[in-house]
Amino acid sequence: MIYNFDNIVDRKGSFSVKWDLKEDTIPLWVADMDFHVAKEIEEALIKRSKHGVYGYSITPDSYYQAQIDWWKNRHNTEIDNAWILSTIGVIPALSSSVAGCVEPGNNVIVLSPVYQYFYSSVTNNNANVIHCPLINDSGKYTIDFDLLKTQAADANTTMLFLCNPHNPVGRVWTKDELTQLVEICLEHDIIIVSDEIHRDLTYERDYTPMLSIDGIKDNLITCTAPSKTFNIAGLKTANMVIPNDALRKKVNQALNQKEVIEPSVFGIDGLIAAYNHGAEWLDQLLEYLQNNRDFAIKYLSEKLPDACISPLEGTYLLWVDLEAYNIDSKNLEQRLIEEGVFINGGYKYGDANTHIRINLATSQQVLKEGLTIIANYLNHNR
Ligand SMILES: Cc1ncc(COP(=O)(O)O)c(C=O)c1O
Repeated sequence: MIYNFDNIVDRKGSFSVKWDLKEDTIPLWVADMDFHVAKEIEEALIKRSKHGVYGYSITPDSYYQAQIDWWKNRHNTEIDNAWILSTIGVIPALSSSVAGCVEPGNNVIVLSPVYQYFYSSVTNNNANVIHCPLINDSGKYTIDFDLLKTQAADANTTMLFLCNPHNPVGRVWTKDELTQLVEICLEHDIIIVSDEIHRDLTYERDYTPMLSIDGIKDNLITCTAPSKTFNIAGLKTANMVIPNDALRKKVNQALNQKEVIEPSVFGIDGLIAAYNHGAEWLDQLLEYLQNNRDFAIKYLSEKLPDACISPLEGTYLLWVDLEAYNIDSKNLEQRLIEEGVFINGGYKYGDANTHIRINLATSQQVLKEGLTIIANYLNHNR
């Protein structure tokens, strides 16, 4: 089946946080997509909805098998049924990892700037965030391994959060980078929590699962979800893959204590349909997103020649440094809302107040309207 991602689905008035939080703006902010889901997902949800009874659910074998098959077929990685814990979101998964495995007052290393809930997942569980700022070389980001070595050597440091692919800087970490990271963490017995929610959204090269790096299995918690990949974040379903029994037991306890263990019956059906039947839709989506990415980079480079745009290797979130335009990103976010477009200011993600994050996952027509407002505003208010 050929999907038409140019088709504009009217989401206004559907309780969409993206479209209904600020009316009359083009929303290029929160990370969900404006595209109609794969027909098999829609059909599975219609079938469930027609059943008419929506009681408590179990997670059936087919729920686990769909994930195992996706890991194997899409990412060439073997996982075991018993390693999987299910939950209602990746944020609860991050938070439960800290609650279950980090003592109050201990340190969690975070490679910043990063998705803002990384910070609150740590501090909400009485641990300390240790920033390991990424090195920014003209928009190309890398890990500061020297600083990381020092931070990891602190006996108080027991966990590291990784985002792969990285929201918001758009990196898909290489095997070599991940191997160096693992070596440092293993030397100091640090647990890695690898948030791989964006793993399926990569362009020129596939991502490398942390699970595939030698030696890390016993110190690893991987978080995944079908939500970003298949545009089903509202179904509130995510998973954790934890090979080590003792570690999994601790996280499971924390998930239970936080009461975040049961995906809804719609989430279960949605996940099974997505992983079993969504590959063709995803392949077409990736072509469309890549086109949007190339279009946005060309458009912004022409209209805002002094902007520094980070290469987008993965995710649909473009990271743009507007230092040359003298911006304060919080102020710009507000000004642009008044102009009719909603983007995320970089201030949310750490020390990145001259940056903005632009969500490209919409029809190219809507994207162009949004980018035009941004470019016009900056050129008139420099
Ligand atoms: C890196 C990352 N992790 C987690 C989430 C949120 O996950 P969930 O909605 O499953 O809690 C997002 C959403 O944007 C994200 O970008």
